[in-house]
Amino acid sequence: MSIEKKLFGSYGGKDVFAYTLTNRVGAALTILTYGGIMNRLLVPDRNGRLADIICGFDRVEDYVADRASYTGSIIGRYGNRISGGGFSINGKRCSIALNEKGVCHLHGGNVGFNRRLWDAEALPGDGKDSLALTLFSPDGEEGYPGNLFVKVTYTFDDDCALTIRYEAESDCDTVLNMTSHTYYNLNGYDGGSVMKQELCLNADRYDAVDELLLPVGEPASVEGTAFDFRKPRPIGQPYDHNFVINGEPGSLRLAGKACDPESGRTLTLYTDLPAVQLYTAEFMNGPTCFKGGVPQRPLHAFCLETQYSPDTPNRPYLPQCLLKAGGKYDSTTRFVFGTV
Ligand code: BGC
Repeated sequence: MSIEKKLFGSYGGKDVFAYTLTNRVGAALTILTYGGIMNRLLVPDRNGRLADIICGFDRVEDYVADRASYTGSIIGRYGNRISGGGFSINGKRCSIALNEKGVCHLHGGNVGFNRRLWDAEALPGDGKDSLALTLFSPDGEEGYPGNLFVKVTYTFDDDCALTIRYEAESDCDTVLNMTSHTYYNLNGYDGGSVMKQELCLNADRYDAVDELLLPVGEPASVEGTAFDFRKPRPIGQPYDHNFVINGEPGSLRLAGKACDPESGRTLTLYTDLPAVQLYTAEFMNGPTCFKGGVPQRPLHAFCLETQYSPDTPNRPYLPQCLLKAGGKYDSTTRFVFGTV
């Protein structure tokens, strides 16, 4: 394995670096210090041919200009939506930024972790390399309580497994729900629609949503619905829904598997979080072109955003994402890339 650091651009007068972790078969992951963004992920197909399977831009300016897609970034403090202008903790009301349609909080607010510069430390290992990114989010940022120290560690190994570990500590009780908002197309990010790519999700329940994409009630059974991915099948239609992963939150367990019949590439997903948002990039139609001038096109990628369910702080019936003062947030998601 090797780690290479390059200047990628600048943001607010400061350097933005790109770190590339390359393994023994030439598979490589590039991460930016702006937004903790996964900018490029080269993995082999069934014939060993490498392709870049994630969407991303060529320049920092393009990431800054594109406010809608959150391409490749680390989302925080809260991935997905929070309703009603905020939430209460210990009886105290916290009002947070309403950056979606003036009524919902989405993906951490106006300046979430995806628009911040992170500090980076390269950590070479044996058969695997890591990049540790750290960030300080002050008390009151986007309305959230607590001075928060965040660490996100990307590890990429010789077997093409990508592990993302999210850690944090706060000086007072707060909520936290971080995720990676990476858009995958297993046939290459310029490889056309993902509708024929196959997906299997280890989820008996999903959230039906209203017009604001907020859950309408407790998670419902997928049985007999278009949300039943318990057996592999083509994605087939747009989705922007949260699925509750079977098994105990807190233990790393199989969440799902995607497969591209054309290239043979597979992605197997594990997480210790309660749920995953399947988003098939329906709204991906921004004016900024992806790497090499590839236009943004709806349904040409999918996100599998592991997370607590939408609006958790206002839904006591869901597993809660409360981070206690002095406690430790520590969560792991793993994407394993292979072929069939
Ligand atoms: C949400 C979508 C949203 C997208 C980009 C996804 O996580 O579920 O509704 O359009 O992020 O913001």
